[in-house]
Amino acid sequence: MTKRPDISGNRLFSATAAMEPRATLQTIQLPWKKASGFSVYDFSGNKYIDMTSGIFVANAGHANKAIKTAIKKTLDSDLLFSYNYPTEVKRDFLKKLLAVSPRHFNCAMLLMSGSETVDAAYKLMKNWGNKHGRKYIITFKGSYHGRGLSNDLISGSSAKAGWSGVKDKNVVFLDFPYSPDARFDPEKLPPPEQIAGFMLETFQGWGAWFYPKKYLGDLCAFARKAGALVCFDEMQSGFYRLGAIYGYLTYSPSIKPDILCLGKGISSSLPLAAVLTRKVIADVDPKADLHGTQSGNPLCCAASLANLKFLSSPRIQAHLRKVIPVWEKETAALAGLPGVKLVNTRGLIAGIIFEDAKTATAAVKRCIYDGVLPVCTNRNSIKLAPPLCITADAIKEAIEVLRAAICGAAGNSSK
Ligand SMILES: Cc1ncc(COP(=O)(O)O)c(C=O)c1O
Repeated sequence: MTKRPDISGNRLFSATAAMEPRATLQTIQLPWKKASGFSVYDFSGNKYIDMTSGIFVANAGHANKAIKTAIKKTLDSDLLFSYNYPTEVKRDFLKKLLAVSPRHFNCAMLLMSGSETVDAAYKLMKNWGNKHGRKYIITFKGSYHGRGLSNDLISGSSAKAGWSGVKDKNVVFLDFPYSPDARFDPEKLPPPEQIAGFMLETFQGWGAWFYPKKYLGDLCAFARKAGALVCFDEMQSGFYRLGAIYGYLTYSPSIKPDILCLGKGISSSLPLAAVLTRKVIADVDPKADLHGTQSGNPLCCAASLANLKFLSSPRIQAHLRKVIPVWEKETAALAGLPGVKLVNTRGLIAGIIFEDAKTATAAVKRCIYDGVLPVCTNRNSIKLAPPLCITADAIKEAIEVLRAAICGAAGNSSK
């Protein structure tokens, strides 16, 4: 650390803030100059250990060399845009995506953002339900699935889309099983033969809350027996964040979802997202509008292909096997700190749950001041999700900074 950043306000922040809606502004006003590997740099020459992956995107590390090379090569080929026409790079990327995914998936549609994938999954479940006389979609209270209207209809609570005046009375919200003893209760559901599908965040985002393994196993077994679809929103949990290619596999390798919503870490960089499914589901309505102007953009496909090659390589897989135990041990040990209720940790994600939001936000600000950038949730949690290339030493250094910041923030709030 050379100089201390001023995160309470700065000229770059004010200049952009003047032109953007208030709702887009970050609590943490940290201007980024560049980012590489697991480090972010500001304009004062400060370097931060990134515990955000730029919000779950840079799984392969920021400005990853292989990804940059692939983008440059495509740039020089003069194929910057191709609408929905076939291209070699799109073919190669689709092949690789299906090759690294469980075998039962045989179809992928390319989009630009996670929100779009959830919108498409909602449409697939509805179309499939219409064909089979099933109308209900089951989801969880407190979940997050993106920011469009269909996303709000199946996120958080039935009040989330209140701003629109639109209500989908066939979306049923279950309580999230926060307790390790929670049991899946089919009695709380509509008749099984009327359920089109389940929409599940692989873990609940704000605090990295995992379902109890038995709960999720029972839910998936129930869905299979009922003939209902299961969709995992893998936006935060995909692409080895939890150790396996997709987070749902860390509950049980026998779970076989029908639809996956993918984005963020799919490219570690440029905007690309995908819905992974089976043709029998995707092709229910051949007229369904399932692609867009920029779907499968060649630069994004090139970046994502290089990203998947990098992340699935034996070198990175061996690295993950080495650092994940360090991560899980170091983050779990934060549970005993003052003000901390518990820690949820798996793979390279952790959610630290606090007694109150004020202490969590104060600890985040202190951490940044000391050179570590966590995810500020503005709730009673801190989330940590470093690029997967992080080293064991950097993990230990960052957790030490975090520990001091939490103790300081908890001490101040008890005064
Ligand atoms: C679980 C989940 N679903 C969907 C989204 C929306 O993704 P995007 O911001 O790419 O539209 C997010 C974004 O944070 C997410 O965390």
